Amino acid sequence: PRKIIIDTDPGQDDAVAILLALASPEEIEVLGITAVAGNVPLALTAKNARIICELAGKTDIPVFAGCDRPMGRPLVTAEHVHGQTGLNGPKLPDPEMPLQDQNGVDFIIDTLRAEPAGTVTLCPLGPLTNIATAFERAPDIVEKVQEVVLMGGAYFEVGNITPAAEFNIYVDPQAADIVFRSGVPIVVMSLDVTHKALVTKPRNDAFRALGTRVGTAVAEMTDFFERFDREKYGSEGAPLHDPCVTAYLIRPELFTGRHINVEIETTSELTMGMTVADWWGVTDRAPNALFMGTIDDQGYFDLLTERLGRL
Ligand code: BDR
Ligand code: CA
Repeated sequence: PRKIIIDTDPGQDDAVAILLALASPEEIEVLGITAVAGNVPLALTAKNARIICELAGKTDIPVFAGCDRPMGRPLVTAEHVHGQTGLNGPKLPDPEMPLQDQNGVDFIIDTLRAEPAGTVTLCPLGPLTNIATAFERAPDIVEKVQEVVLMGGAYFEVGNITPAAEFNIYVDPQAADIVFRSGVPIVVMSLDVTHKALVTKPRNDAFRALGTRVGTAVAEMTDFFERFDREKYGSEGAPLHDPCVTAYLIRPELFTGRHINVEIETTSELTMGMTVADWWGVTDRAPNALFMGTIDDQGYFDLLTERLGRL
């Protein structure tokens, strides 16, 4: 299995991404989960990550708290999408498993130093603060990363938090800039992909029909998450963003994209956090990311339902 660290701000869709990874031990070995401030403040994301591990029955996964705010800007949160707890929808008990004492950034650094080069993949599902802080503090780890597979950014689908920017990149553009310039291999699951991965009614029903605690909780989470998109965009279901990252590790053939140059806007307030993606190759800037644009959405939901059924 591929060794990964999940860096996350749960978030209902983060939760599903974590569950998918924990349900897939043949393909994925989760070394640890590092929480970051994003959808809700750090205390809640660190708590939610443990709630999800307990829901999956995987209380041995170490969970760490990382950075509580972006590198150079005040924190912007998304309770309007995810609810006050970040995980509104199902009623899940408070976690009993402990939060690790070590800081999440130090865990990322120590793990990359301890493991053989090229064997650890980072999976950021929130703002890139923890990852960029680790890269700044310990530049020696950058070349040891196998790949960064992240959810963030947009090109054709432009913005969901401002007209120009996707939430994860917008919250900490400085961190995103550090990661995109670092030279690590990057796979980007952008809104161009995730807006094609809609939890329609039949897909939600399929989660519920699993008849398990996990299936019910996921159906309740996506139900809650959906009300926002239904009301605001009138879409047939909410985009299930973050599990695209863990699905890619299991079934990369579900996605297609292009190796292109992606730069991050960090100065203009109007377009702050925009992922300036050279999709058409109109510059001579070197490609630094595999930017995904399509998804086999039914294949993705079939995979999710099948794997969640294993928990
Ligand atoms: C991203 O923002 C968050 O609200 C979601 O969890 C996802 O990671 C989508 O823009
Ligand atoms: Ca997220």
